[in-house]
Amino acid sequence: MGSSPFIIVAIDGGAASGKSSTSRLLAERFNLLHVDTGSFYRHLTSELLQRRVPVSDRAALLGALPALKFSTRLEGRSARLLIGGQPAGDEIRGQQVNENVSHYAAVPEVRAVLLDYQRGQVGVAKQHGFRGLVMEGRDIGSVIFPDADFRFFLHADPAERAKRRAAEGRQDSVAERDRLDSSRKTAPLACPPGAIDIDSTFLTLEQVVDKLAAQIAPKLN
Ligand code: DC
Repeated sequence: MGSSPFIIVAIDGGAASGKSSTSRLLAERFNLLHVDTGSFYRHLTSELLQRRVPVSDRAALLGALPALKFSTRLEGRSARLLIGGQPAGDEIRGQQVNENVSHYAAVPEVRAVLLDYQRGQVGVAKQHGFRGLVMEGRDIGSVIFPDADFRFFLHADPAERAKRRAAEGRQDSVAERDRLDSSRKTAPLACPPGAIDIDSTFLTLEQVVDKLAAQIAPKLN
């Protein structure tokens, strides 16, 4: 009996482009670990705000980062980042984090402390018997796993994305976060060369998932 390969699926895209729902459903369909790296940046931002470390105070920020201890807890098929043993609270989806996260995420040292942690999720997935992982973010196919088996980039019309957030009852500065995330120097949001670009504006979630799944399935069978 041949053992099937461990696969890495990278999904990048702008705010509210459908990455999370798509990744979650793919994780279910193929028994993959789901890793939402946006939630990591959000948790880190929330932690730094609580510690009163403003992004504008570079010395304080560089001083605070090495003290943060990361570990992982599995919740179903999802990897949750713990900082100092604590999971993120609901505030990571709130307005204050929405408004600040892109500023912290633009700092190279902030990205550097999460880099190894994100790559380390391969070990977590293997340890728990997953067939691979699906990791979503902004720089997964470009920086974290440029050699991923599959690299997808989701985009959708900004008006449609704002509508999706509103339907979830969430306030989010989708366009402003995209502007900041695309224009930063380190690991900007962009479709990396060779990635499969999917426009989901006129597709249902099921149609998007089916498109990605059609590429992945042959590798796992
Ligand atoms: O996926 P999300 O909208 O929850 O991500 C929140 C923010 O985190 C996003 O605006 C930019 C940052 N982020 C990042 O810089 N790199 C990633 N790989 C994931 C998120």
